Amino acid sequence: MDLFIAGTETTSTTVTWASFYLATRPDIQSRIFAEIKANVGTERLPSMQDKQSLVYTEAFIMEVLRMSNIAIFSAPHAPVADVWIRGFRIPKGMQIMPDINSVLSDPAIWGDPENFRPERFVSEEGTLLKPDEFIPFFTGRRNCLGESLARMELFLFISALVQRFEIMPPEGETLDINEVDGICGATHAPKPFYIRAILRHGKEMN
Ligand code: HEM
Repeated sequence: MDLFIAGTETTSTTVTWASFYLATRPDIQSRIFAEIKANVGTERLPSMQDKQSLVYTEAFIMEVLRMSNIAIFSAPHAPVADVWIRGFRIPKGMQIMPDINSVLSDPAIWGDPENFRPERFVSEEGTLLKPDEFIPFFTGRRNCLGESLARMELFLFISALVQRFEIMPPEGETLDINEVDGICGATHAPKPFYIRAILRHGKEMN
């Protein structure tokens, strides 16, 4: 039950955010599609073996995880004995709710945290950067048990989505990346929005 609850809405909400960012940033979407086309083609679906070569696609997913911050207060924890951290006493049993957003949107770490910029995760040599402060799955011994599964699901789903579909706002409408509003419930989800998913190729791929 823990795996089911923690593993469904989290990943699907992240895919919803990804659809929003794809629809609002056609420039980024084109770059992801070009990378997929060059490294995977359009005759077969991307697989985990392609992850190494789809650096920008993976950087996009990391930026979605950073910006959308779906587990905004992580999970509550309590120490089993009194502990001292930087002069603060945390008594045994005291509930702590970590504020992940304070790290994922800290200007001292990211420079321009308010901008959606996958490039921040790509080095000058074109390799993927993994800063210690990138903690959407939190950190420490009790960090997300499903991180590798979630990252696999996000990679396979989002790369396949962009390979097959062009994600756009509804006809005659615009979606503004700066006007996104989130709702904090079990996860931090975007308010409902509409998109169009236009098949890129004339026929379905196998
Ligand atoms: C985008 C997807 C996901 C995000 C952002 C996410 C994020 C998190 C965060 C922030 C925590 C709290 C960690 C802590 O307090 O130290 C957590 C815990 C957990 N997550 Fe995830 N999660 C995701 C997907 C999944 C998936 C797919 C599964 C399993 C199938 C899963 C299973 C769990 C479990 C079991 C815990 C509790 C771990 C523990 O208390 O030891 N999560 N997750």
